[in-house]
Amino acid sequence: MTADTLQIEIKQTDKSRLQEVDFNNLVFGRNIADHMFIADYRDGQWQNSRIVPYGDLSLSPATAALHYGQAIFEGMKAYKSEEGDTLLFRAIDNWKRFNKSAERLCMPSIPEEVFMGGLTELLRLDAAWVPSQEGCSLYIRPYMFATDAYVGVKPSDTYTFIIFTCPVGTYYAKPPRVKVETHFIRAAEGGVGGTKCAGNYAGSLYPAKLAQEEGYDQLIWTDAREHAYIEESGTMNVMFVMDGKLVTPFVSDTTLDGITRKSIVAIAHHWGIPVEERRISVKEIIEALKENRLESAFGAGTAVVVSPFATIAYEGVDYALPELKEDSFVNKVKDYLTEIRTGKTEDIFGWTLKV
Ligand code: COI
Repeated sequence: MTADTLQIEIKQTDKSRLQEVDFNNLVFGRNIADHMFIADYRDGQWQNSRIVPYGDLSLSPATAALHYGQAIFEGMKAYKSEEGDTLLFRAIDNWKRFNKSAERLCMPSIPEEVFMGGLTELLRLDAAWVPSQEGCSLYIRPYMFATDAYVGVKPSDTYTFIIFTCPVGTYYAKPPRVKVETHFIRAAEGGVGGTKCAGNYAGSLYPAKLAQEEGYDQLIWTDAREHAYIEESGTMNVMFVMDGKLVTPFVSDTTLDGITRKSIVAIAHHWGIPVEERRISVKEIIEALKENRLESAFGAGTAVVVSPFATIAYEGVDYALPELKEDSFVNKVKDYLTEIRTGKTEDIFGWTLKV
């Protein structure tokens, strides 16, 4: 079976919601496209692949995922090219990362033909939902959760895999003010921080809420042992441009192997910019800021794309980031990524896939 030969039963909506969407004012995550792809894991295999109108699910109150959190997801994007084609960005990397999360959460892996076959068919059906407005894209949310109606703690025998999509604009309306978290932690060595499991996000909400009450938009997580080293931010990896180099924390089992992050690293290598993937102490960043050696600090992720920070707060002090120059690395890499994703420039890396 290949992605093209996967048998998918399709039930189209008879009431599209497309006309209700204001594509010139897209708010992240608010509008969901007409259809969703679903497959069920039963008797040790994925089956019943289908596309149906987006709508509510019926679940047992004993559904295992709701109690013990066996639930994982991905975030990926599709773009509209000037020719009107739908271009998927690095979808195979998302599929691979999804299966890594599945393994760690003791869930079944999903075959490439189910993930990619379901995704491409869904995108063909909802092609009109892929925005062409500048800075906009179709955010894709594949996820899997345990469906056994059973109250004991054990890996579920049954699962559901779903993909739905939403046309989105920018995630942050303005450059985020971030705070270095030195009390709560996101992940510890040996834990699940390197996976995209639902619980990682649930655990981050309370510390993020406290930071928001202090006027910050997002946290920068530090290591669980000493709170001295930078890990990642709430919805994105963290990167710095300092001393003429791109510097970013290395990927470990406490940080996500971000696909935007690794694309930016690849582009920097391609442009001949020195890259350091290593441990970065908070103190080092604050020193560089004070000595005007830090050109920029930014978040990188599927949802946020490339988001330069406005300020970094540490131990009660707000440090303002310098204003970005037109030709700064951040601006250039953001534009270049957009050009690759929308097919405006040659994709020398082989990252895009025409649906
Ligand atoms: C993404 O960037 O796709 C993410 O998963 C972040 C999200 C939780 C909004």
